[in-house]
Amino acid sequence: MRESISFVLNGKITVIDFLSETRFTPTTTVLNYLRSLPGHRGVKEGCAEGDCGACTVVLAELNGDGRLTYRAVNSCLIFLPKLHGKALLTVEYLKGQNGQLHPVQQALVETHGSQCGFCTPGFVMSLYALYQEKTEYSRENAEEALAGNLCRCTGYQPILKAAEKVLKEKPAADSEKEQKLIRLLKNLPKESVAVQTEKQYYHLPATLDELLHLRQTYPQALLLNGATDAALRVTKKFETLPAVIDTSAVAELGFFTKTERSFIIGSGVTIQRLKDISRDHFPALSRMCRVFGSRQIRQIATLGGNLGTASPIGDMLPVLMAYDGTVILKSLNGERRVSLDEFVLGYRQIDLKEEKIIYAVELPIPGANVHIRTYKISKRREVDISTVSAAFRLELNNKETIERIKLVYGGMAETTKRAYKTEAFLQGKAWNGETVLAAQKILVDEFTPISDARSGADFRRIAAANLLLKFWQELSK
Ligand SMILES: Cc1cc2nc3c(=O)[nH]c(=O)nc-3n(C[C@H](O)[C@H](O)[C@H](O)COP(=O)(O)OP(=O)(O)OC[C@H]3O[C@@H](n4cnc5c(N)ncnc54)[C@H](O)[C@@H]3O)c2cc1C
Ligand code: FES
Ligand code: FES
Repeated sequence: MRESISFVLNGKITVIDFLSETRFTPTTTVLNYLRSLPGHRGVKEGCAEGDCGACTVVLAELNGDGRLTYRAVNSCLIFLPKLHGKALLTVEYLKGQNGQLHPVQQALVETHGSQCGFCTPGFVMSLYALYQEKTEYSRENAEEALAGNLCRCTGYQPILKAAEKVLKEKPAADSEKEQKLIRLLKNLPKESVAVQTEKQYYHLPATLDELLHLRQTYPQALLLNGATDAALRVTKKFETLPAVIDTSAVAELGFFTKTERSFIIGSGVTIQRLKDISRDHFPALSRMCRVFGSRQIRQIATLGGNLGTASPIGDMLPVLMAYDGTVILKSLNGERRVSLDEFVLGYRQIDLKEEKIIYAVELPIPGANVHIRTYKISKRREVDISTVSAAFRLELNNKETIERIKLVYGGMAETTKRAYKTEAFLQGKAWNGETVLAAQKILVDEFTPISDARSGADFRRIAAANLLLKFWQELSK
């Protein structure tokens, strides 16, 4: 166990010992850390909640085959210990040996992609991660990668043109700078971190076994993984989190196994990876991942963290319920499996005894007669939470009669909820327009949603009923 963290900051090994370096705490964000350092203020603070991308930096890590992976992330949501063993790259790192601009920056200059410049370092870093990952240019890839960066004055066309220009050039394979970074990363310590200050303890275990022991010893500590939800308690509510167990360094939670009948997906799998893993067998899940936050959020936020929030507008639970998912909980005493239909007990409350962690989710591969679709209604497509969401499962007998139906809604109650009355009405009936119109009349009164800043209760009820009609229309095409 170490009390300090070690990482590479723009090509230099950097150590922070929280006991001697009292300017920073384990829940200081990377953004605040960088802004406090001379010569690292290219990074900007806009919203401090993951919505604007002005604070985008890149995390580089060694993957299994000794090469680097680059992830653009929101530094306003990253606590310092999460840098342990990784490289933090900021816009200052991009300067060439003779002070020349990086190709990404040069492209932005040439396409007039910056006006006031406040958002520009964030755009540069999002594009830099794509460039380093040697991402093929397509408009879709560029839009996906830049959706988490807001610009108030330039307009997106010149920025997208810069993306096209630079991604069509291929970066030189493993530049000297990359080789140096690889060497430095190989030399960094990887063991667990445990920091105990007067006001806080923060554990970053490196193995599952350590995590389970810690969970047993400190049942009241806040468990976190990506901290895209938990960090807001610090950045928006200014809380001091007295006790934290950060699971993000436990590689055993990032697994994914495919059996003949099911997928088992570790709770530490990020939403971005889940999007790719699920594309072939669980397309509705993959589509929901695509409209989840932004790329910066998806690359950090995890499946387990999403279920852990038990948020009534969390986007994963409805679709996982439609796929008949089961959550696997773990402790030192063993495993427990709970159907996701029964996992949420109340508003932001899950069936997780104090000593347990969410370990994985198992999803049975659906048969050919199963139709699953998801819908997310929000004010904008990207970086927005659901006003209403739905995930539907339909199994037909002889392509005509409803053998089984599941209608799962988010945003309609204090928890994710199934429309049990409407499901019961539909069971055994012919799957046709007439039946669906009759079901809508039941559905519209089945929930009593609230009115809030996102929308009124009436809108939610009508939208929920119309999504069922949309489902029927889509399947009838
Ligand atoms: C800008 C922005 C956009 C967002 N967009 C969306 C969106 O489109 N859709 C959506 O659903 N959410 C969205 N979120 C919310 C959040 O990103 C997700 O809920 C995310 O999946 C949380 O994962 P995490 O790993 O960051 O969780 P964390 O913040 O680390 O943890 C969240 C909760 O889960 C618990 N937890 C974490 N890991 C475990 C575990 N292994 N076992 C038990 N409990 C655990 C924690 O104790 C905590 O209570 C957004 C957030 C931000 C800031
Ligand atoms: S400051 Fe807006 S995303 Fe971080
Ligand atoms: S250039 Fe001004 S906000 Fe983007």
